[in-house]
Amino acid sequence: MKAAEIRSTFLKFFESKGHTIVASSPVVPGDDPTLLFTNAGMNQFKDVFLGFDKRAYTRATTSQKCIRAGGKHNDLDNVGYTARHHTFFEMLGNFSFGDYFKKDAISYAWELLTVHFKLPKDKLWVTVYAEDDEAYDIWNKTVGVPAERIVRIGDNKGARYASDNFWMMGDTGPCGPCTEIFYDHGPGIEGGPPGSPGEDGDRYIEIWNNVFMQFNRTEDGVMHKLPKPSVDTGMGLERLAAVLQHVHSNYEIDLFVTLLAAAKKAVDDATPNGGDCDKDSPSLKVIADHIRACSFTVVDGVIPGNAGRGYVLRRIARRAIRHGYKLGARTPFFHKLVAALVAEMGEAYPELRAAQARVTEVLQQEEERFFKTIATGMELLESALAGGAKQIDGETAFKLHDTFGFPVDLTADVCRERGLTVDEAGFNRLLDEQKERGRQAGKFKMAQGLAWSGVPTQFHGYEHLVVESVKVVGVYVDGSPVNSATAGDDAVVVLDQTPFYAESGGQVGDTGELRNGTTRMLVEDTIKIQADVFGHHGRIVEGTVNVGDSFVAKVDVERRAKTVRNHSATHLMHKALREVLGAHVQQKGSLVNADRTRFDFAHTGPLTPEQIRKVEEIVNAEVLANAAANATVMAIDDAQKSGAMMLFGEKYGDEVRVLTIGSSKELCGGTHVERTGDIGVFKVVAESGVAAGIRRIEAVTGDNALAYLQSLEDTVDKVGATLKAQPDEIPARLGAVLDHVKALEKEIEKLKGKLASAQGDELIAQAVDVKGLKVLAAKLDGADAKTLRDTMDKLKDKLKTAAIVLAAVDGDKVQIAAGVTADSIGRVKAGELVNFVAQQVGGKGGGKPDMAMAGGTDASKLAGALASVQGWVAERA
Ligand code: ALA
Repeated sequence: MKAAEIRSTFLKFFESKGHTIVASSPVVPGDDPTLLFTNAGMNQFKDVFLGFDKRAYTRATTSQKCIRAGGKHNDLDNVGYTARHHTFFEMLGNFSFGDYFKKDAISYAWELLTVHFKLPKDKLWVTVYAEDDEAYDIWNKTVGVPAERIVRIGDNKGARYASDNFWMMGDTGPCGPCTEIFYDHGPGIEGGPPGSPGEDGDRYIEIWNNVFMQFNRTEDGVMHKLPKPSVDTGMGLERLAAVLQHVHSNYEIDLFVTLLAAAKKAVDDATPNGGDCDKDSPSLKVIADHIRACSFTVVDGVIPGNAGRGYVLRRIARRAIRHGYKLGARTPFFHKLVAALVAEMGEAYPELRAAQARVTEVLQQEEERFFKTIATGMELLESALAGGAKQIDGETAFKLHDTFGFPVDLTADVCRERGLTVDEAGFNRLLDEQKERGRQAGKFKMAQGLAWSGVPTQFHGYEHLVVESVKVVGVYVDGSPVNSATAGDDAVVVLDQTPFYAESGGQVGDTGELRNGTTRMLVEDTIKIQADVFGHHGRIVEGTVNVGDSFVAKVDVERRAKTVRNHSATHLMHKALREVLGAHVQQKGSLVNADRTRFDFAHTGPLTPEQIRKVEEIVNAEVLANAAANATVMAIDDAQKSGAMMLFGEKYGDEVRVLTIGSSKELCGGTHVERTGDIGVFKVVAESGVAAGIRRIEAVTGDNALAYLQSLEDTVDKVGATLKAQPDEIPARLGAVLDHVKALEKEIEKLKGKLASAQGDELIAQAVDVKGLKVLAAKLDGADAKTLRDTMDKLKDKLKTAAIVLAAVDGDKVQIAAGVTADSIGRVKAGELVNFVAQQVGGKGGGKPDMAMAGGTDASKLAGALASVQGWVAERA
């Protein structure tokens, strides 16, 4: 049975049992900062299990794209070494949300496997959680599995509930005891039954896990009972396919056969002088596995990078590339597999087909980047391996990581092939040291290294731009704390409370002034010294600022208003970009100031003018709707439930601020307009690429947008005035002018030719006979390189036996051509002749014996140089 049929048989079976077929969710979990990648079918139902979310159904079934390459469930290191591990796989699952429980779940599983998939009952083994007598009895008494094939497994992983038979999604979230079904591949294969010392072998393979969800584990480790006991199951499609296709390795199933062949071809094609790598090499399996994980993560908006999900993607891609390199590939090959993958899986996952071009491009860019350093890195690694040590030292691993882009697990993978290990502790120490250096440097830049041990600053800047009485609690000059600073000093002032927004979340810090009866300080920037401590940086222009003084703090209202318009527009634009380009658009960076907003996001390839227009139209429609913006502080869980956009990898506190504006809802600590109408006009002014797979949009709002449009209008007016055309006539008029220019150019070409031949005729008379050779050296007025050459050819024809030098002058620059007729190249060489002349005018050149060109920079010497030609020829001919 082919994988596609297994997938549909599974879904249809559960549909016949009252389950709703639900589409796979993306491999990048939407708005769940606790999860690196979707690692199980239940992820998209997490909130339903927890009772936070309700669906129209209580039974569901899915075929879910999963990635297990980082986080709690990580199979990356096993890929290529076992017959059944993958970084990407499809999980078939059925779910009950407070509907059926253990008895039905087990009997459905048994019916599907033994009746529909026709697996022999005596080949199936099961495990149950040691304490779960209920599940044991269902298997034994109701289903009739003999006791010798039921294994009880307790807390075998060193802590309460840490067990192969107690499933948790991550460190927190829904969890519960589980029962697993194993298939016995038969005595020909190494390995023992579950719970035995040989359980990690390939003989007894777990094919299906049925979890009885009963608890929610919170961060403090406490298990809270779920509102209703539920069921979550997961069966690896690839493992089941291996069983049903009577093969022992997942890599032999139909899904992989074509991928492996494509991998071999791509590697062989990328091997210098053609290759023929071993078709059974484990490296091909790694490549075939990794193209799936890499492609599906890119589909969902991940770009190879140095942190978070981007780094996991980079690690997987580079690991695959290194395996190709090992087989002989020396140029990019990996991205070529995307087409084969689309052919295999594009039907089941149309989003893959839709993103084919983008995925190929992103992977190709990553590959090109790594191919620049892989050879040198491998040489370094090989020489370290050749040393005979049992372990690669941390320094080498770090250098490979830092200079050559070798993730440490890639280095470990190479070492493992040779039976060696990596000093990971040493590597991590060096990595930490590097991070610390970076942190120190960053801190120094942001807050000039200020050490603060006082209270946090109270921020009033969401509601007020002026606070009448703020107290100075700290003053710094030249990075050191002082009691007072006076006029002329550049100082950083810490206040007990402030209306000034401190730079964060991409929004610049406020400017403004601190003023009292005697003193005035211009605040030029506001930065965070620590999480909640604001430093007001600027110049004291009058009087003295003492610790303890009171001031009126006043934000520059206009600058803030401009900044705020840009910030709010950024949220609307983010939303619009996702609408126009797709959900893979994820924020990668932003800068919002008074002039513009600059927004970087994951997307490959330039936006078309139509897409930019569409984004502008959507945002401006939101502006016209003039909806009120609303910021609410709420628990992170509530924010998540409300569907607010969150950035993965951000450390959010328990309480977050959710900003709703128009149809956008995002976590944001920044300052915003009151109503969308305050934005005025929104206009994109630039679109560009900043890195592989990352685009940048710059846009303006309000009066800046008006100024931008006015300046465009000025330009158009100027062009119109020059062309003597109304704005709408410009394109036609300009087209006509350009046509005219082209016609003139053609005419000039013709005239140049005529001129050259006329000059050429005149020059013939100037040729001098030197030992039977006609020698001619002359300047051609107004000639370019082509005219020089054409004239040279004509003169050669006419003079028959000759050595000729022609030169043209343009300002100080000189162009020289030397030619010798074919019958005379044994006597003088054009290359030498041209050099002789060129040297005298400050240049050099060369060419063939019959024709050579040169340039010079000193036109004043040309006449003398031309005069010297006759003597030079006379000496040689
Ligand atoms: N969520 C369970 C698993 O992934 C079914 O094994």
